[in-house]
Amino acid sequence: MARRRQLYEGKAKILFEGPEPGTLVQYFKDDATAFNAQKKGTITGKGVLNNRISEFLMTKLAEINIPTHFIRRLNMREQLIKEVEIIPIEVVVRNIAAGSLAQRLGIPEGTRLPRSIVEYYYKNDQLNDPMVAEEHITAFGWASAQDVDDIVHYTLRINDFLTGLFLGVGITLVDFKLEFGRLYENDEMRVVLADEISPDNCRLWDAKTNEKMDKDRFRRDLGKIEEAYQEVARRLGILPEAGSRDMKGPETMQ
Ligand SMILES: Nc1ncnc2c1ncn2[C@@H]1O[C@H](COP(=O)(O)OP(=O)(O)OP(=O)(O)O)[C@@H](O)[C@H]1O
Ligand SMILES: [Mg+2]
Repeated sequence: MARRRQLYEGKAKILFEGPEPGTLVQYFKDDATAFNAQKKGTITGKGVLNNRISEFLMTKLAEINIPTHFIRRLNMREQLIKEVEIIPIEVVVRNIAAGSLAQRLGIPEGTRLPRSIVEYYYKNDQLNDPMVAEEHITAFGWASAQDVDDIVHYTLRINDFLTGLFLGVGITLVDFKLEFGRLYENDEMRVVLADEISPDNCRLWDAKTNEKMDKDRFRRDLGKIEEAYQEVARRLGILPEAGSRDMKGPETMQ
């Protein structure tokens, strides 16, 4: 394969120039960070699993007409995506109190919320991704009122759909983070779902035992991190063909 230009290296993924204009290759690393990169580590096989899990979930979402950046998986660690202009907002949906919501508002972790709550965080590592209101988003021009409407509409549908999908395999979807971007196609701008959906940015609890099956195992040093990510993939019926023996996968071509 030809040499590809690296465009961006983030904490969990690397973006390369794609084979055609308007496309990118998203490479999933095993690197894990938490608390705005104050805590760093690796989770062996995480990249392979997240690539596969995100492919699976984005494909399912496309089937219910959620526009996404996903085109196709290329190999164990890489997927082809449409390049978008990322809207600098992390959209968080919460169904059950956990993490910062539980802490900030003094609600015991595990409390079912009266209804699903959508929160926004401004994507800015220097500022520690501060929580913002819709007012800030539109006033500062990070997104238009129409973009925010589209984002909320998609986000609630995604939450409904994924809640059911995970419950079907014995997993409670506690909360998760989404990123959206703008895609310009045929002189039209559309808001599409971007980035990834994986145990790195979802809280997933076993529906029977409430055991954590996500990145909180890394954040809180709970151990059995690889096993938890693998179990999520297994329950979704998508463990990589090679099973758990070859989770390293091929190296990227650079
Ligand atoms: N379709 C896309 N087009 C362009 N950029 C994208 C697309 N999907 C995701 N991204 C961006 O690619 C990067 C993925 O890398 P990674 O998740 O490792 O970043 P990160 O360390 O979390 O940093 P960031 O604070 O930028 O999100 C993110 O910046 C994400 O916003
Ligand atoms: Mg990220």
